Amino acid sequence: MCGIIGYAGEKNAVEIVYRGLINLEYRGYDSAGAAFGINGRTVVFKRQGRVEKLKPLLEGLASGIGIGHTRWATHGSPSDINAHPHTSGKITLVHNGIIENYSELKAELEKGGAVFKSQTDSEVIAALMSVYYCGDILGALYKTVKRLKGSYAIMAVAEGENVIAAARHKSPVVIGYGNGGYYCASDEPVLSGECGEVSFLKDGDFALIKPDGVRIFDGELRETERKKQKNLAQAGSLELGGFAHYMLKELRQSPAAVKNTVTAFAEAEDKIRGALSGVNRIIFIGCGTAYHAGLIGKIYVEDIARMPAEAETAGEFRYKNPIVNKNTAVVAVSQSGETADTLEGARLAKSLGARVIAVTNAPYSQLTRIADTVVPVCAGAEICVAATKSYTGQIAALYMLALLLAGKNAEGGGLSGLPEICKNVADGADVYALSRLCAFSKGVYFLGRGLDYAVALEASLKLKEVSYIPSEGYPAGELKHGTLALIDNATVSVFIATDKSLTDKYKNSVEQVISRGGIAAIITDIDELETAFKGRAHIIKLPCCRGHLSPLVTATAVQLLAYETAVSLGLNPDKPRNLAKSVTVE
Ligand code: M6R
Repeated sequence: MCGIIGYAGEKNAVEIVYRGLINLEYRGYDSAGAAFGINGRTVVFKRQGRVEKLKPLLEGLASGIGIGHTRWATHGSPSDINAHPHTSGKITLVHNGIIENYSELKAELEKGGAVFKSQTDSEVIAALMSVYYCGDILGALYKTVKRLKGSYAIMAVAEGENVIAAARHKSPVVIGYGNGGYYCASDEPVLSGECGEVSFLKDGDFALIKPDGVRIFDGELRETERKKQKNLAQAGSLELGGFAHYMLKELRQSPAAVKNTVTAFAEAEDKIRGALSGVNRIIFIGCGTAYHAGLIGKIYVEDIARMPAEAETAGEFRYKNPIVNKNTAVVAVSQSGETADTLEGARLAKSLGARVIAVTNAPYSQLTRIADTVVPVCAGAEICVAATKSYTGQIAALYMLALLLAGKNAEGGGLSGLPEICKNVADGADVYALSRLCAFSKGVYFLGRGLDYAVALEASLKLKEVSYIPSEGYPAGELKHGTLALIDNATVSVFIATDKSLTDKYKNSVEQVISRGGIAAIITDIDELETAFKGRAHIIKLPCCRGHLSPLVTATAVQLLAYETAVSLGLNPDKPRNLAKSVTVE
């Protein structure tokens, strides 16, 4: 949802902030901007569109201090004027989050004579800070945030002061300790290669980032310390590494994500077992892809551990009055560990006495601080907005969790050799012809039963997200209860079919689509289906999918299908329109 970065030190802040914005762009790409201290003045550069539009403006500039922003628009359309930084008087700032009471504050400031250029909530913060500013940037920021309702990560500079003041509430700020300078940023992967050590501001904290050091303050401006930790984000993880897109690079990294997640689970197993002791019911929560992983988790827990389980979107869970108690584990699944709805769902569950388990790819995220214990997903930095390897990593983690709940040997759990199978699918599944059919269809329906249905929902999300083709996921049995009315020769119905015991049911459903003149496709490892529909349906034949582990194989195939479809339409799957990687606001 917007990425922000700041730097103060002896290196050129212009290069560092620009490079940082390029690497933060997955958090939003509606506009980009930066401000630098040059000869005692604050100089601002901003443009609607991608970060690279700033490049010609910054050519040849040098500065020791700067802040930058890449925007996912919430208040005010994408435009040059609405781009950050925003300036008022001597104050210039960047903001990630949403200020819920900005209209009241704006009206109050306008009464006092303030004139606003943009439609953003963020400009109101700058105007308010400028009112409070009398030579002490930290004091002005403190007074300002006391008036704000909502979420914010703010980095501000004041003309003539060689310091960045930062504050956070519900939006992340990481402090980076580099060679010859200090950093602040929205996440730690952007600091990989720059900072070996990082520390994380807590909600309510403030920081002053200067060329010669960092000072951190708590919510009452008492100087404090936040533990320095090794920056686990690997240098180079933000590079394309010869791939045309991050989506392709990352879906090919699924085998490693599965393997590393299984290893990390074994290391954390005792802690996880302890956190689950006495639990008799599991509720999975998450958003988007993470929710779809939760649906798979529910099936695993019911099937393997024979324990009651539910899965719900975090956005629904957080606004109801859930029935939970100390024997309920709420498993919050989130790649980023920063999704606002998931965090609120986890907080609610905790306040009601439930155990909270975080399944996340971000070991230092807010979610890990709320949770009683963490089930690590080790997918590495995921840059493409569309989740790929984090989803397969989550599935592997949830499978291990179910085995643990069942008291079964979690070591391996039949997973050995599976990464190799996923690799073969990612390298070899021939989805090209089917992707062309999808690209030129008027709608694509993904159908399945059980685990295949859960993957069908994710397949549909992936396809619509990167190709903009209308798509839905359905339980195959529901086809005849309504969806069949939509089937014609311009629609594609993709069956995901890996449960051999349901082969006859699948046959019926595919026949129904064909008899209505629809285009049918089957992603399957079942020989009988291949034989039955050869020449009548488009078949993507998979290697043996191994029962409960089938989603790891089918997911790779449908991710590849979505990727190929987007590319054949000339779209950039890494940065789908209107979306951002981490949704840290409501
Ligand atoms: O970081 P999270 O896993 O909490 O993100 C949740 C969703 O926003 C995310 O899974 C989204 O649906 C995917 N980017 C879709 O590919």
